[in-house]
Amino acid sequence: MGILKDCINNKKIDSIPVWFMRQAGRYLPEFRQLRSIHNDFIKLCLNPEVSKEITLQPLKRFPIDAAIIFSDILLIPFALGQDVSFEKNFGPRLGELNIKKLLNVSNDEIIKKLKPVYEMIEKTSKDKTISGKDLIGFTGGTWTLLVYMLNQKSPKNLNQDIFKNANQKEVLEKIINAQKIHIKNQIENGVTIIQIFDSWAGLLDESKLDKYIYEPTVELVNYIKSLGVEVICFPRNIKDYKNYCKIIKPNAVSIDYNVDPIKIAETVEIPIQGGLDPKCLLLNENDMLKSAKKYLNIFKNHKYIFNLGHGVVPETDPKNLKILVDFVKEFK
Ligand code: CP3
Repeated sequence: MGILKDCINNKKIDSIPVWFMRQAGRYLPEFRQLRSIHNDFIKLCLNPEVSKEITLQPLKRFPIDAAIIFSDILLIPFALGQDVSFEKNFGPRLGELNIKKLLNVSNDEIIKKLKPVYEMIEKTSKDKTISGKDLIGFTGGTWTLLVYMLNQKSPKNLNQDIFKNANQKEVLEKIINAQKIHIKNQIENGVTIIQIFDSWAGLLDESKLDKYIYEPTVELVNYIKSLGVEVICFPRNIKDYKNYCKIIKPNAVSIDYNVDPIKIAETVEIPIQGGLDPKCLLLNENDMLKSAKKYLNIFKNHKYIFNLGHGVVPETDPKNLKILVDFVKEFK
């Protein structure tokens, strides 16, 4: 348990909590080294020893306050029987979705397939590198998972065919069921916070938010809270964060880099996380710190967790990340 949890729960803390989305990833040479040996990404996520090591890599380099488990949101479609692979310079590629087969997958099968993730979490949570810090578990937003499962790759824009699928309601329920199982097992094995990554929330217009985002997310957030764990939601590029927070009631909300942080500070009362454009880490030191300072100042009188508005990009120099973390830690 660390200061992220304390910040979210309004306890006194001595510095601003900081961690980064994609803090374990290709910008780290030690990650690239392991990745070059383990070229099947799903197998890597299901290798408890190596995924534990990758989870802890950023903590060994930077004085950050949390680790996020090294895994992927697409392990849910994988556990539901869909083929998932990752191609260089393309991203995720999923096999065709066989809905009849999907609806027949049992809870035991899901747990069996994801067991190595839980083993990794158990091992990681007991490692001394993480003692006193938070271990973040996660799931994709139900909507974002549905998009990947039906679109079979990252969407560029909204494929209207998604809404024509006759079995949609059952598919959504099946995804939510798998997410609940996955969340419960992560918590039982040692994660202290859950983040919901709804990366494609911004694709939907207002009229579809209830069915695809609000209803499933309220269900997941209430479930996570019922297990006694805090939940951070990241509805990337959603148009109205204020309304989202009013409906979903997460313990904290992570904001993207397109939204105006001043408007967020004025309208959202719950703890805020993130916001800074990941590309700011590619600037020179002065400009990078100037942009970071903007967020730190705007959220000075708010409960604030420092993070980015999306994941660390592979071109980032780890030295810049270190400078940024030190700056945040000294900010008063
Ligand atoms: O450090 C961490 O943040 C923890 C691990 C993590 C990964 N993926 C590892 C990963 C987390 C939290 C995720 C979440 C995830 N995965 C999301 C939501 C967040 C977001 O980025 O919007 C999404 C949409 C995915 C699906 C996914 N996985 C994509 C689109 C890609 C390709 C993008 C890329 O950077 O190449 C992945 C692969 C992936 N997941 C990598 C990592 C480190 C890159 C793998 C590699 O090629 O080495």
